[in-house]
Amino acid sequence: MVSTVIANIGELVTNDPTVGDGLGIVRDAALVIEDGKVAWRGPSSDAPAADESFDAAGRAVLPGFVDSHAHLVFAGERAEEFAARMSGQRYDGGGIRTTVERSRAASDDELRATLRRIIDEMARQGTTTVECKSGYGLTVEQEARAVRIAAELADEVTYLGAHVVPTEYKDDTDAYARLVSTEMLAACVPHARWVDVFCEKGAFDADQAREILRAGIAAGLSPRVHANQLGEGPGVQVAVEVDAASADHCTFLSDADVEALASSQTVATLLPGVEFSTRQPYPDARRLIDAGATVALASDCNPGSCYSSSMAFCIAVAVRDMHMTPAEAVWSATAGGARALRRTDVGHLGVGARADVHVLDAPSHIHLAYRPGVPQTAAVWKAGRKV
Ligand code: NIG
Ligand code: FE
Repeated sequence: MVSTVIANIGELVTNDPTVGDGLGIVRDAALVIEDGKVAWRGPSSDAPAADESFDAAGRAVLPGFVDSHAHLVFAGERAEEFAARMSGQRYDGGGIRTTVERSRAASDDELRATLRRIIDEMARQGTTTVECKSGYGLTVEQEARAVRIAAELADEVTYLGAHVVPTEYKDDTDAYARLVSTEMLAACVPHARWVDVFCEKGAFDADQAREILRAGIAAGLSPRVHANQLGEGPGVQVAVEVDAASADHCTFLSDADVEALASSQTVATLLPGVEFSTRQPYPDARRLIDAGATVALASDCNPGSCYSSSMAFCIAVAVRDMHMTPAEAVWSATAGGARALRRTDVGHLGVGARADVHVLDAPSHIHLAYRPGVPQTAAVWKAGRKV
C-alpha cells in the first residue's frame, strides 16, 4: 500500500492526552499514513519522504469524527412531521411507526442505497466512524435484515429491536419485549456488536429494558441505551447498572443521574441535532462535564427526530447553546465518540491509530463552531484511503 505524508499542518489535533492541552494540539506538524494507520507524526521540517504527499498549507487537521449514534436503515422521510413540529406539535416518538411501515415495504437494495448515500454524505463532512442501529423493522425477519444490511457499510452495528412496540403488540408490550430478548435477538446477534433499548415512557420501561439488555449481554452483545430523552426516567440508571458503553440523549437528568454517569464508565452521549429539530431544551453539557462525566457528541441522524448527518453542526450548537468550549466539543465529537463505542483505534491521531484524517479548510478547530453552516472539509482519509 502506498504511503502518504500530509505536510504543513498548521494545527494538528491529536487528542493525545500527554501532549499540550485537552486536544493534544501540535503546531507546524506532519503526519504519515501507511497501511491504513498513522505511521509517524512530528514536526513538519522532519517529515520523512513517502510515496505521495499532500500539502495541508497551514490548515488544521483533526481525527475523523466518530458518529456514535445514528439510525440509517430506513425508507421514506418525515418532512411533514418536522414542519408540524415547527408549528407547535410535540415530538413523542410516535412517528417511528410511520418509518417502520415504509421500511418494511422497501427492498433490500432500497434500504442499502439510502444507507450508502448517508454514509457517503457523512464521509464528505469528515465522519469516518459510523454507528448504525436497526429499529425500523420490529419483526424477527425485518430486524435481522436491518442489522445484516447495516453491517455491510457501517463500522458499528447496533440491534435496536426495542425501538418502540409495534402496533401488532400494542396490547401486550411484555410479549414484544420477550420476542426482542429471545428469537429476534438470536437472529440479529451474528451481525451486531451492540444491543440498545429506547427506555422511555411510551417505549420500554426499566424492567423490560433490563430484560432485553441482559439477554443481549448473555448473547455476547454490549449494551447502550436511549435514555432520558423526553423526560426524567430510569434510562440512565439502567444504563449505568448494566455498564452500558453509553447513555444517549441525557436531556432530562436528575442530580442522581449526573452523579451515576460521573462515577461510571458510561459515556453521556448528547445529540443536539435532536433538540434542535424537536424544539426541546438542550441537554446540560456543562453540568455533566463539571461533574466529571465523559461526554460524546453524535448526530442521531434519522428521518424523524433529526435528519442531519452533520457533526460540525452538532459542534456549533453544543458550543453556542450547550456551553461547551470549542475544544470540548471537538474532543466529544472525536475521542468522546470513540469512548462511547469503546474503541481505542479511532478518535485520535497517535501512531498506530487508524488513519482517519480530516483536513479542515480552516486554520483551527475553533472554526467548526465559529463558522456554522459553512462547509469546511478540505480532504478526508478513512483507514488510510482518501474519500
Ligand atoms: O434517537 N428516540 C428514539 N429514536 C430516535 C428517533 C427515531 C425516529 O423518530 O424515527 C431518536 O431520537
Ligand atoms: Fe437514536
